Amino acid sequence: MQPQIRKSSPAERPGTGALATVPPLSTREFDLIRELVQRRAGIHLSDQKRELVQARLGKLLREAGLASFQDYYRRVIHDRSGAELTRLLDAISTNQTAFWREPAHFEFLLRELLPAWRREGRTREGLRLWSAGCSSGEEPYTLAMVLWEALPEAEARRCTVLASDLNTQVLAAAKRGIYAASRLTPLPPEWRRRHFLKGVGRWEGYVQVKPRLRELVHFFRHNLTEPPSFTGTVQVIFCRNVMIYFERETQAEVIRTFYECLTPGGYLFIGHSESLCNLSHRFAYIRPTIYRK
Ligand SMILES: C[S@@+](CC[C@H](N)C(=O)[O-])C[C@H]1O[C@@H](n2cnc3c(N)ncnc32)[C@H](O)[C@@H]1O
Repeated sequence: MQPQIRKSSPAERPGTGALATVPPLSTREFDLIRELVQRRAGIHLSDQKRELVQARLGKLLREAGLASFQDYYRRVIHDRSGAELTRLLDAISTNQTAFWREPAHFEFLLRELLPAWRREGRTREGLRLWSAGCSSGEEPYTLAMVLWEALPEAEARRCTVLASDLNTQVLAAAKRGIYAASRLTPLPPEWRRRHFLKGVGRWEGYVQVKPRLRELVHFFRHNLTEPPSFTGTVQVIFCRNVMIYFERETQAEVIRTFYECLTPGGYLFIGHSESLCNLSHRFAYIRPTIYRK
């Protein structure tokens, strides 16, 4: 049976049989961990996240047979391979996402931007889009579907959706492109039929994104607090519901990087609960959460 995660008394320590629960997370230990997460991933952990950190990292600590969060912290910072830090960041990040999430952005691309660029001949050589903080792939695959629907097939096939995230586990799932069929509900019904293969046998109830769309999407690990790992520019950046976890200084830095990565006339889309209002930047405001270089 899985040990229960609950606040333990100091007497309860790993390795004591039924009492093998998570040790308490002291204020000092929490501060050490949040400083590390802030420095390495830009993610700000407020005081309210303390229980979440205790629960999520407690699992890793138990697996490693460690007695305290201080021991766990030491293990992470002394691991030269970086694998422990990767596991920590995987455990901390919030990966909630969906197909066709915040549809106004996809409608804008489908009905306004891509038709306009097509008329101007800007799509003939294909486009490069970047889903920055792509989680398990629903956002970049929705972008690939939009390209497929808005452009002639030959042009769509020349497009690329760069899809990056910090979290290695969601990236592995995204590359497989397999989802519970129920997750397709937000998509237009004909898109569900056109762009997915239905699972059979032990895959009953699951779908997989068709290979022709998967070929457009290139997943890679990238930390947004670091310089981009790809060369050249992109015409569109989606970075939605990611910067919400960053402090203002980190947000400003990331926005500057996005500006450099976009071609002139390129577009930046951010999440509906996010804004560039309090940041200094060079983007033109188009409408809420949509900006142009
Ligand atoms: C809430 S999800 C948003 C997914 C998608 N963009 C959407 O709106 O549905 C936030 C994602 O940002 C990623 N993330 C957090 N900090 C990051 C960083 N420093 N660099 C890259 N990705 C990061 C997380 O791993 C997570 O998958």
